[in-house]
Amino acid sequence: MNHFLDIHKTDKAALRSIIDNAMAMKQARLGRPKAMLDDEKPLDGRMVALIFEKPSTRTRVSFDVGVRQLGGQTMVLSGNDMQLGHGETIADTARVLSRYVDMIMIRTFDESVLEEMAEFATVPVINGLTDRTHPCQIMADIQTFEEHRGPIKGKKVVWCGDGNNVCASFLHAAGQFGFDLTFTGPVQLDPEMEFVGLARNQGSSIVIERDPFKAVEGADLILADTWVSMHDAQSARERRHNMLRPFQVNQKLMDAAKPDALFMHCLPAHREEEVTSEVMDGPNSVIWDEAENRLHAQKAVMRWCLGV
Ligand code: CP
Ligand code: NVA
Repeated sequence: MNHFLDIHKTDKAALRSIIDNAMAMKQARLGRPKAMLDDEKPLDGRMVALIFEKPSTRTRVSFDVGVRQLGGQTMVLSGNDMQLGHGETIADTARVLSRYVDMIMIRTFDESVLEEMAEFATVPVINGLTDRTHPCQIMADIQTFEEHRGPIKGKKVVWCGDGNNVCASFLHAAGQFGFDLTFTGPVQLDPEMEFVGLARNQGSSIVIERDPFKAVEGADLILADTWVSMHDAQSARERRHNMLRPFQVNQKLMDAAKPDALFMHCLPAHREEEVTSEVMDGPNSVIWDEAENRLHAQKAVMRWCLGV
């Protein structure tokens, strides 16, 4: 049994096998009549709890569909409706849930909730986003890049904007998959230096560049995310927008990267804020493949967690 808590906490060979398996499962479904899709049900008879303490569209639907495609069943739980949100400890919740279900996916606020869940659960726990990281998203992103451009190893990835949870998991991936990452954003919103150091120690070049146009020179992949994450105070919205406006991904910025640079965004996007519609809907954007690949990548994550 394996937990999938973070990219830097997962063995490199396991990460590679998850991506390869995700691609193979996606490929296997292509062009097959629906009647033939039911032959492999590795999660047959298994129940997966999907716990959400924050809103979600992609994570909720892709995990739910993914479990069903693998032959299992799901139970979607809102943190607020559980005793978890009303004083029962995380450890006790983990112990109890482990008696009912075969795997737990949780989206929460503080990462200590995820860690405690994993410590006390006797079934695999998957990180569906915390304030600090979002590893499932980045597995889908690596799959998407490699589908379009081949191995990501040695490529230049540029993160524009807030050094947030998604950026953190990209830094983890830089170290593990061996690509370089340039962060461009305001100094107040730099990514965690601990994660920058981790990636550098693994041999990746991690650059912090305040000029977005310099940052994207030679880029193979450009990334954006919302300027106000779910855990950020709404009162900080205007201040954050003012700081982040110069780092918007627009066509002018895309034109300063390699001509075939891809654009990705984990979504939900705020059109005309962190990215323009021209870029989102433009020829270099692979955001819909990226969203689709949440399904395939997470199916592979779940199979790895259960060893099936
Ligand atoms: N990208 C992502 O995790 O989207 P949701 O918040 O809709 O799950
Ligand atoms: N950084 C965003 C990602 C949403 C998928 C957030 O945490 O709200």
